[in-house]
Amino acid sequence: MGRYAPVMVGRYSAAAVCTPGLELLCSAELADLGCRPKPAGPGTVEFAANARQLYAANVWLRTASRVMVEVGRFRATDFAHLERAVAAIDWSPWIRDDIAPKFRVSSNESKLYHTEAVAERLHRQIGAPAQPGQAEQLVIVRIKRNTVTMRVDSSGDALHLRPWRTEIGPAPIRTTMAAAMLRLSDWSADAPLLDPFCGSGTIPIEAALAARGMPVGGQRRYAFQHWADFEPGTWASVAGEIVSRHRSSAGQPIWASDRDSAQILRAKNNAERAGVSDDIDFSTNVVSHLKAQTGNGLVITNPPYGKRVGDGQLDGLYRRFGSQVRERLAGFDLTMVCPDSGLAKRADRNLKSVASFRHGGLRVNVYHRSGQVPSV
Ligand SMILES: C[S@@+](CC[C@H](N)C(=O)[O-])C[C@H]1O[C@@H](n2cnc3c(N)ncnc32)[C@H](O)[C@@H]1O
Repeated sequence: MGRYAPVMVGRYSAAAVCTPGLELLCSAELADLGCRPKPAGPGTVEFAANARQLYAANVWLRTASRVMVEVGRFRATDFAHLERAVAAIDWSPWIRDDIAPKFRVSSNESKLYHTEAVAERLHRQIGAPAQPGQAEQLVIVRIKRNTVTMRVDSSGDALHLRPWRTEIGPAPIRTTMAAAMLRLSDWSADAPLLDPFCGSGTIPIEAALAARGMPVGGQRRYAFQHWADFEPGTWASVAGEIVSRHRSSAGQPIWASDRDSAQILRAKNNAERAGVSDDIDFSTNVVSHLKAQTGNGLVITNPPYGKRVGDGQLDGLYRRFGSQVRERLAGFDLTMVCPDSGLAKRADRNLKSVASFRHGGLRVNVYHRSGQVPSV
């Protein structure tokens, strides 16, 4: 993706929130949008943004869960400090009669440690919790070593909740992690792609959306569209880019298979909702019968692993998968996610860990090897 807009002095002190471990990938995406990102602790990447960049970050970031805007940062060791500092903030751009605040408070190593009591005080001061049917504005309050950072959410529904992924199987990969794997694999839609354990289709659908220059959130609405300082003209221009970047096809074949026909049905339905069903060739197939392909390409996948699918009898499956890739897809790169380096090496001893994060309660690694490898 090329640079999005010239770097300008930011009006918003923004922060993208991502899964810890994805900060550098999220920073690279922000740099593509013309921002100057600065990782600021686990799961947070700060950047200055004008309205255009803030809107574009919500539309185009694939590895972030939310984009927040800082509204206050101050020290507070008791409720009196907190209330004084909060009273100095003008909340009118975000909180109105028809939009109630919703506070999500966390506290570490701080005197204000009772997070529910903090939220209660904030509600008393800024506005009552939402009545049924009333819209909400999420405010994230982080208290760390007595420094309070308050950020309003500009996204609304979390960005990782892709609107098209309404059907999932037993062990779906997180959408932002699928996007991270694609970025780590260096695939730029210039070669065929295969996911032979595709489940509900998350990886191939994220790939097809990227290949077609489509945003992952479709035609959704964002919280910033309710803000008092919302700029409809700027938004129209960002939305116009969605149309101008749109390509009519993925360009290269994307194959996705799974042994479970119910998973393939879910994947097809998800792809249909995402608007990329014509780009992905889905089939019900076991990994021991992969179709041979010549030339270059990428195998990118999330095979079953013990604690989530199966019962630990996975060595044979990984060996079969690895030998199929070497024999039938000899020119393909391989990117896969797995919590167990021993298991990953059963598939291919040349795999190297390129990233690590927590997923489904486990620490998992993304493994990658590129190019032709000798048979083992
Ligand atoms: C961890 S899940 C993949 C989840 C997927 N990434 C998603 O987001 O839904 C692993 C998948 O491997 C499939 N699978 C297990 N053994 C297989 C085999 N021998 N051949 C093909 N698929 C298999 C399972 O049916 C399951 O859908």
